[in-house]
Amino acid sequence: TKKHKRSNGTHEKKVTRQISHTHKNVEGFKKLFHRFLQVKGPSVEWIKIQRPPEDSIQPYDKIAARGLPDNVADCLNKLVVVKLNGGLGTSMGCKGPKSLISVRNENTFLDLTVQQIEHLNKTYNTDVPLVLMNSFNTDEDTKKILQKYTHHRVKIHTFNQSRYPRINKDSLLPVATSLHMTGQNAEAWYPPGHGDIYASFYNSHLLDKLIEQGKEYIFVSNIDNLGATVDLHILHHLVSQPNGKRCEFIMEVTDKTRADVKGGTLIQYEGKLRLLEIAQVPKAHVDEFKSVSKFKIFNTNNLWISLAAIKRLQEQNAMDMEIIVNPKTLDGGQNVIQLETAVGAAIKSFDNALGINVPRSRFLPVKTTSDLLLVMSNLYSLDAGCLTMSPKREFPTTPHVKLGSSFTKVQEYLTRFESIPDILELDHLTVSGDVTFGKNVSLKGTVIIIANHGDRIDIPAGSMLENKIVSGNLRI
Ligand code: UTP
Repeated sequence: TKKHKRSNGTHEKKVTRQISHTHKNVEGFKKLFHRFLQVKGPSVEWIKIQRPPEDSIQPYDKIAARGLPDNVADCLNKLVVVKLNGGLGTSMGCKGPKSLISVRNENTFLDLTVQQIEHLNKTYNTDVPLVLMNSFNTDEDTKKILQKYTHHRVKIHTFNQSRYPRINKDSLLPVATSLHMTGQNAEAWYPPGHGDIYASFYNSHLLDKLIEQGKEYIFVSNIDNLGATVDLHILHHLVSQPNGKRCEFIMEVTDKTRADVKGGTLIQYEGKLRLLEIAQVPKAHVDEFKSVSKFKIFNTNNLWISLAAIKRLQEQNAMDMEIIVNPKTLDGGQNVIQLETAVGAAIKSFDNALGINVPRSRFLPVKTTSDLLLVMSNLYSLDAGCLTMSPKREFPTTPHVKLGSSFTKVQEYLTRFESIPDILELDHLTVSGDVTFGKNVSLKGTVIIIANHGDRIDIPAGSMLENKIVSGNLRI
């Protein structure tokens, strides 16, 4: 029948797409693996590292001081928001996509993102789409959820990043024995880091489609960074550069504190801005790299990138990113490596790249349940999907929160708080062991609660703890 034929046609298309996808995965992996085999020695020579020139990292205030143009809507209509959504919530004990974890008043990371963009589209009568880069780990669950946004004023597109084979550390042979991923060999595959965005976006043809629609720039960020909202000043700066000096890439960086030892920093290298990650730093210089005085800023992974430039660099095969070799041990004990790249590492391939030193509030990542406690609390208020720090907080810094291992998993963390404590005046909180919090607890100054092994501490409802150490039966 006609219907049968049509469904056969759809099936055929699906199969063709899958074959082409597999083919592109194989090609992409071959290229990456080939580069990995060729690399000899460190990717940077320490003595060639220079401080970036004055004007290559601009203070955010200087960019914002120019004010906004009348045509904000025109700027916005050139923009696409992209969220990196390949990761799972495993470090917080969740099985599915991290973006689907509830972070505030039942809203997930994804809900908040959709609310932010919808608010922009309604306010300025624009059409800013949201693009999610999924991985084979997150695609199915994410797509199921996307149905709930059908009636929101945001077009949502997705594309899938690559699926590459993990390789045995010693033999350098793939762990998988066939190209197909099954329930049994799932561990043999991995998504190769967010640097994969360029190739996957291009290969998905979505990039071309968006260019045809008149889109010019993407704003890319980690889905778990709740501070990564569309900033109209940065967007305006980007679109108003004169021809010939077109800025193809902006990296938002922010001042490093002693707690931020991990993030990459911007350096000048062979005449270009480059991202330097800790993994690239020779052992003898690691302390120097971590110091706050020499390398003052770090990458927030909020990036603004020209679509036309991505297309050009992909077509010229000129996207150059250092390979990150990530060692893992599989459940069966086999030692493997996975080859990855980072989206920010491509900065050196773009013309007129720029760093903008943004306020810390644009970097609000939720990596642990300690971070989650902050964003769920009265320290922040929620407005159109954006979290802003409460004006009632006297200091603009966030409290240091360290929740122990009984709080690591979101599910368990939630059962330990009857309600999230008032932390407006908190500076430091350390909790360790079997501890629960009753309703309406308030924590101020420095609070340390330690339940020894075998003990349990229940903080009664309505308690106010100010500069207190609570440990076992001893209360000071
Ligand atoms: P990471 O897992 O890399 O976070 O994911 P991280 O440890 O904080 O490292 P960096 O310094 O931010 O890179 C960061 C974002 O990238 C996505 C995750 O979903 C998250 O939003 N991601 C990561 C992908 O989309 N694909 C990947 O292959 C890896």
